[in-house]
Amino acid sequence: MSIPFVTLNNGILMPQLGVGLYAPKQQDEVKQSVLDALDLGIRLIDSAAIYGNEQEVGQGIVESAIKRSELFVTSKVWMDDMGYDSTLRAFDKTLSDLGLEYLDLYLIHWPKETARKETWKALETLYEQKLCRSIGVSNYYRKHLEELFLHANICPAVNQFELSPFCYMPEELAFNQENDIQVEGYAPLVRGWKKEDVVLNEIAAKYGKSTYQLLVRWNLELGAVTIPKSVKRERIQENMEVFDFSISAEDMQQLGQLFDNTRVAWDPRDF
Ligand SMILES: NC(=O)c1ccc[n+]([C@@H]2O[C@H](COP(=O)([O-])OP(=O)(O)OC[C@H]3O[C@@H](n4cnc5c(N)ncnc54)[C@H](OP(=O)(O)O)[C@@H]3O)[C@@H](O)[C@H]2O)c1
Repeated sequence: MSIPFVTLNNGILMPQLGVGLYAPKQQDEVKQSVLDALDLGIRLIDSAAIYGNEQEVGQGIVESAIKRSELFVTSKVWMDDMGYDSTLRAFDKTLSDLGLEYLDLYLIHWPKETARKETWKALETLYEQKLCRSIGVSNYYRKHLEELFLHANICPAVNQFELSPFCYMPEELAFNQENDIQVEGYAPLVRGWKKEDVVLNEIAAKYGKSTYQLLVRWNLELGAVTIPKSVKRERIQENMEVFDFSISAEDMQQLGQLFDNTRVAWDPRDF
């Protein structure tokens, strides 16, 4: 089944399902996992300088021989590189490591307070120079977005933040949707930490799906783009088999009550 697209606020199309590439203990499997994901039909790649594997990701892209225009490649500027000039330098390194001439989406990875304003200015420059087809933020909650709106010339196209039933803050999702910012949920699988959860298992069984598939579908039902990570071909495939069912309103309601603030990353409220 083909993966649908969402339309970003600048008119460009983004696949609604991609693959995450944070794999600190599996760096030697990253190139092959990119090849597998692309072979299976994934076109959205979620990379970041801090993941330390952009060269491997780039090799996978080149070897796949898929036309560049078919891909949607994302990267992110890490906190140490934030600031106007340093962001432009970090972007150059990312492009060169990936072996690309432009990115589809470049994000501020975390809203480090002292540098986020200048960093956004740098992303606007990259966008105006057509080196990024879209720009956005990550781990921005409402307070960060409201601050950004005061100085930004360009509205972020995407906000990537942690999104699973266990880390679900509906007001944050709604605020992005009201402002025409596409939400991209990361760690949709909660890294497998919740695979024994009784409610997840009961609901997944009802649809004849795994808990992993249920969690991916849950993100899609909310209108989010989602980027489950696996370096294993069969799991990438499993995580893609989510377009042949939908979760009922009643089950969405039940899943939406599982919030316990389980997070794989920091809480943006602390930034
Ligand atoms: N912007 C940010 O600050 C931020 C923060 C965190 C993550 N991210 C992005 O979001 C992506 C996804 O998040 P994540 O990697 O933290 O966690 P995740 O996608 O929730 O979970 C990944 C883990 O689940 C395992 N897994 C995947 N599919 C599975 C399946 N079908 N059955 C059993 N196990 C499965 C993977 O193992 P194997 O790989 O060994 O299969 C891996 O250990 C990241 O890779 C990264 O691109 C962004």
